[in-house]
Amino acid sequence: MDKLKVIIPKEEIAQRLTELAAEIRKDYKGENPLLIGVLKGSFVFMSDLIRAMNIPAEMDFVRLSSYGAGKESSGKIKLIKDVEIPIKDRHVLVVEDIVDRGLTVRFLLDYLSFRKPASLKLCAMFDKPSGRKVEVPIDYVGFTVPDAFVVGYGLDLDEKFRYLPDLCILEEQN
Ligand code: IMP
Repeated sequence: MDKLKVIIPKEEIAQRLTELAAEIRKDYKGENPLLIGVLKGSFVFMSDLIRAMNIPAEMDFVRLSSYGAGKESSGKIKLIKDVEIPIKDRHVLVVEDIVDRGLTVRFLLDYLSFRKPASLKLCAMFDKPSGRKVEVPIDYVGFTVPDAFVVGYGLDLDEKFRYLPDLCILEEQN
C-alpha cells in the first residue's frame, strides 16, 4: 500500500503559477509565443499557465517516451507525437511538468532548435536537480522538489494520481 503526503498544496501551486505567468507575460509582451507542452504530464500545468498568462499565445503538444512502467526509466527517449504547428521563426516556450534527469527536455530542445525557431525557452513547474544527468538551462521554474518520486498536478505513477490538485510524495508502506 502507498501513502500520499502533500508537499506542495494547491494554494501554493496557484500562487506560484500567477507569479510565473506574470513573468512570462512580461517577457513575451507584443509577441505571439507558441507554447509546446510535453504530454501527458504537462497538460494540467499548460492549461493553467496559458489562461493565467492571458496573452495571445498558441499551443501545441509533443509526446515523448521516457519513463516506462513504474518509477524506472528506460533511459532512451523517443518522439511519439510531433508538433503540428510549424515552429520556424516562432518564439517557442516548452512547457514541461518536471525536469529530473534532464534527458527528456535535452532531447526535445535539441530536436526543436534544429527547426530554427526565433527563440527557444523552457518552463518547468517542478525541478528535481538531484536527479540531473545532463545539464539543461530552465528559464522559468515553479518549484524545486526533493529527491523523491512525486505525483499529482498532472504527474503520474502508471497513469494514476494525475488528477490530484496538490503535489504529493508517494511513501511506500510495508
Ligand atoms: P527526465 O528529466 O528525462 O528524467 O524525465 C522527465 C520526465 O520523467 C517527466 O516529464 C515525467 O514524465 C517523468 N518524471 C520524472 N520524475 C518524475 C516524478 O517524480 N514523478 C512523476 N514523473 C516523473
